[in-house]
Amino acid sequence: MGKYIIEGGKRLVGEINVTGAKNSVLPVLAATVINNDTSTIFNCPNLRDVEVMEQILKTIGCKVNRMDDMTYVDSRPINKMRISEELVREMRSSIILMGAMLARFGEVEISYPGGCEIGPRPIDLHLKSLRELGAIIEESHGFLYCKAENLRGCEIQLDYPSVGATENIMMVAVKAKGTTIIRNAAREPEIIDLQNYLNVAGAKIYGAGTSVIRIDGVDSFNSVEHNIIPDRIVAGTYMVAAAITGGEVVLKNIEVEHIQSIIAKLREAGCMVYNNCTTLKVIGPRRPNAIETVQTLPFPGFPTDMQAQMMALLSLANGTSIISETVFENRFKHVEELVRMGANIKTVGKAAVIKGVEGLTGAKVSAKDLRGGASLVLSGLAAKGTTEVDNIYHIERGYDGLEKILQSLGADIKKI
Ligand code: UD1
Repeated sequence: MGKYIIEGGKRLVGEINVTGAKNSVLPVLAATVINNDTSTIFNCPNLRDVEVMEQILKTIGCKVNRMDDMTYVDSRPINKMRISEELVREMRSSIILMGAMLARFGEVEISYPGGCEIGPRPIDLHLKSLRELGAIIEESHGFLYCKAENLRGCEIQLDYPSVGATENIMMVAVKAKGTTIIRNAAREPEIIDLQNYLNVAGAKIYGAGTSVIRIDGVDSFNSVEHNIIPDRIVAGTYMVAAAITGGEVVLKNIEVEHIQSIIAKLREAGCMVYNNCTTLKVIGPRRPNAIETVQTLPFPGFPTDMQAQMMALLSLANGTSIISETVFENRFKHVEELVRMGANIKTVGKAAVIKGVEGLTGAKVSAKDLRGGASLVLSGLAAKGTTEVDNIYHIERGYDGLEKILQSLGADIKKI
């Protein structure tokens, strides 16, 4: 299982490189299925979730080779249309393979994604949209049986700008006959990265990054080389590490436009943040200021994937802050662990009220999910004494070499 042992109280100072975005590489790897050719993906982070996606691709017949931060996928030999239950259960986002397989083969069987780590996470928008594009989807015995003989472009109005649903629609629409328009599409940077990958492969997608995306279907695709964008959540997490320890950290390989909402909230909390296009310096305050409200929203709003880390910082603020989580239900599992470390936090429905305390104290805590787990590590860096974080496999799903990077900045953290 693994644990992190952290001796808190060290000021983090130094320079780090931000790795490629998990939430970008996962859909891009899924999209390699669509083009009956080879894809070379650079800036791939070394993460459990990425391994799972590579494993799924192998089980359906792809040739996958990994070398450091490069992954090569040859999707020509795919010979299985069924995506195994275990791997889908391990990683919910494997549901984006549904669109990719439908586009390439017109059929797929995929296990219904289980688990409810952060709220029920339904896939109704995915299913409704793919049906509108011509897919016939039946659900039985925990599996989704999908067939599509005639995929045809259509106009889709999403009830909510779901990232995964937008990605699934894009995957199918690139092969559908005619034009698809997605309205109220997700605007996350990862959607732009997927558009860029697919367009280099021969697709005709316009407008990713805005709320209206147009896709003209095409028949064939070609081999691609693609560089994954930097991970804005990993960047944000290290920014909070600097902030919470009153440290001074320079981040390299970032895309400033992707993290403006995080920069704004850290400035409100009293950090000094200096940036040019690809590097950013964060200097933490002596004690953070409370922030009246942090509301999580779809991009370009404040990311739900940074909510827990921000809460760790605000738990030490000079005053009371409110965090309102509007994207996911039940995404406050880290609260009771933070409270064990001395934080004063109460949740009421989708809101958390955080009364800043002067100091946190080390404790034995448990990571319940990926970002919540990261928030416990951040709190441990600032706490007095020893913090033990267990169940760190959740954290390793999304952070490549977390303890080594923190050590390089002067943190006293080890993994056992
Ligand atoms: C992606 C990210 C995740 C991030 C989230 C929101 C990946 C692999 N994961 O997840 O890290 O936290 O975006 O930025 O990219 N919803 C429905 N029905 C659907 C689909 C979604 O009700 O069919 C709801 C979800 O339950 C949730 C909200 O919409 O409340 C947002 O979900 P969505 O944008 O789809 O997130 P994911 O793509 O799952």
